[in-house]
Amino acid sequence: MRFAIGCDHAGLALKRLLAERLQALGHQVQDLGTDSAASCDYPDFAEAVARAVAGGTADQGLLICGTGIGMSIAANKVPGVRAAVVSDTFSARSTRQHNDANVLCLGERVVGAGLALDILDAWLGATYEGGRHQRRVDKITALEG
Ligand code: RB5
Repeated sequence: MRFAIGCDHAGLALKRLLAERLQALGHQVQDLGTDSAASCDYPDFAEAVARAVAGGTADQGLLICGTGIGMSIAANKVPGVRAAVVSDTFSARSTRQHNDANVLCLGERVVGAGLALDILDAWLGATYEGGRHQRRVDKITALEG
């Protein structure tokens, strides 16, 4: 799969760790920044990743900030994006299966490295189930106007 990934200064270390995992698993990784620990604004990177996913140059996105929350709020402003911030493996699996989430958001100040790796594995191991969920996802899409 083609992943677009991004972070702010508070998510840099975890982004690098998860990028390594994605590449080790054979996924393509397009890193849209930030690349330094200097303070920066998470919406800039959320937008870049969200537009890559919505525009089809990436299949899925990964965004990391301190909490994952700011990234998810910003990414969800881009039509076609269903960004989910999660901090447990059940939610990671469920949001792929039920919501067809296409951007995974994590908080480096919330989850440790080991849990983040497990969350990524749960996300990657799950597939969208469609069926009754499609009607609901369609209603989310309709909210985009
Ligand atoms: C940066 O201090 C922090 O606000 C940001 O990484 C993120 O947690 C926002 O949601």
